[in-house]
Amino acid sequence: MAIHPDPALHCLLVTLCSLKPRLFPLLPFLLWTLLSCDLRGAAQGPGEWTPWGSWSRCSSSCGRGVSVRRRQCVRLPGEELCWGDSHEYRVCQLPDCPPGTTPFRDLQCSLYNGHPVLDTQKTYQWVPFHGAPNVCDLNCLAEGHAFYHSFGRVLDGTPCTPGTQGLCVAGRCLSAGCDGILGSGTLEDRCGLCGGANDSCLFVQRVFRDAGAFAGFWNVTLIPEGARHIRVAQRSHNHLALVTRGGHYVLNGDGVLSPPGTYEAAGTRVVYTRSAGPEETLQATGPTSQELLLQVLLREPNPGVHFEFWLPRERYGPFQAQVQALGWPLRQPQPREVEPQPAETPVVPEAIPARVASLPPDPCGPCPDSRGRAHRLLHYCGSDFVFQARVLGRHRQAQETRYEVRVLLIYKSRTPLRTREYVWAPGHCPCPPLAPHREYLLAARRLVSPDGTQDRLLLPHAGYARLWSPAEDSRVRLAARRCPV
Ligand SMILES: *[C@@H]1O[C@H](CO)[C@@H](O)[C@H](O)[C@H]1NC(C)=O
Ligand SMILES: *[C@@H]1O[C@H](CO)[C@@H](O)[C@H](O)[C@H]1NC(C)=O
Repeated sequence: MAIHPDPALHCLLVTLCSLKPRLFPLLPFLLWTLLSCDLRGAAQGPGEWTPWGSWSRCSSSCGRGVSVRRRQCVRLPGEELCWGDSHEYRVCQLPDCPPGTTPFRDLQCSLYNGHPVLDTQKTYQWVPFHGAPNVCDLNCLAEGHAFYHSFGRVLDGTPCTPGTQGLCVAGRCLSAGCDGILGSGTLEDRCGLCGGANDSCLFVQRVFRDAGAFAGFWNVTLIPEGARHIRVAQRSHNHLALVTRGGHYVLNGDGVLSPPGTYEAAGTRVVYTRSAGPEETLQATGPTSQELLLQVLLREPNPGVHFEFWLPRERYGPFQAQVQALGWPLRQPQPREVEPQPAETPVVPEAIPARVASLPPDPCGPCPDSRGRAHRLLHYCGSDFVFQARVLGRHRQAQETRYEVRVLLIYKSRTPLRTREYVWAPGHCPCPPLAPHREYLLAARRLVSPDGTQDRLLLPHAGYARLWSPAEDSRVRLAARRCPV
């Protein structure tokens, strides 16, 4: 059937066909039918519901239960049944039951205690049995016996299974929509409107791609008050940070890496995950009760921070204006020095080199002493690059040694560093030596050959290369502020 006739026309045809033999005596009725066809589209459509009655009392006397309301279908002769349900059930929530109250299902089973219920005259004590297929049947186990019996449906409002949200209604397990109506399936839209169509708010989705060759905190975006369904993700060794309006770090601030978990901020719960992937995510349902500032703590070149949230329409304009006024995305780094931490500050556990490979004894002799604050300062200020790196490999040649490193955190950088770099050191036995698989703080110079064909990072003899530690990290950050300008 590819052709769907106009309903009014269809109605007219049906009416004429059914009435043809006695058309004339019924002319007034025919006219009436035609009129109602015009008005209602189909004379033999469904009947009409009466308005809903009032809600019944809650099925339980404490805790959760259901209440029901009814309506009736009013039909003219020939009209079909009304569409929709004649009963509507909603969850009612009374104050919690006092401790020790017999659960509703237990109570229903216990009604059969001491009564002969099976064919024999034997009686049993009945307790709920939760292993049967239909959770909304009153399945009760005969205590001390290895059988259960189904006594039909449980009463409306009985929890389907203990500790879950669903409630049994007319033998079916239903859960409430956001309108509180059981089985309605109505959901809250992204704007927080029950049964809405996502049209009272706007979706903001962007990627912050500033390369950021400098270590430290960078502003990514403001997340205005009222934002919902916030998601942020990034894949690198950088870290997401979240700041409240008062400048308080919810996550990853103040030189301490926060553990993955749930954090309370701006009236919502922020779920923070971090995997060795490496990948980090932030998620919050919102709505936020105040503005939040999303930052990224750069330790290596930024591959992109993806963020999205939903904003009430009226907040979108001000948000755009604010972001534009701030000139974001930023081109300059956000200088935020981390002060040397007092002793009780927790040590960042995963920043400590995890593995130390066992190496054959080193044939090289001892190196000159290159410790001390003056040495650090000299090299920090005189270098083109200062960064934290993990040594991935070492290749010794006759005249020089080449280290392959993964750049983890950049403190100072004249030109952008890539995630993986070669660092060259003079000689077969460079000083100080770097051991593979360990993490160092390195101060390097950029060495460009006169013909411009080679551009290298050079670790000078007796230069600055120290095993990374939180303390050394603090000292380097301090040195950064002591350099002559
Ligand atoms: C609202 O948006 C979400 C996410 O894009 C989508 O899953 C959902 O189906 C939308 N709801 C409506 C009613 O369009
Ligand atoms: C980052 O954002 C905050 C809050 O809006 C602002 O105070 C700060 O100046 C921003 N930093 C930079 C470098 O723009």
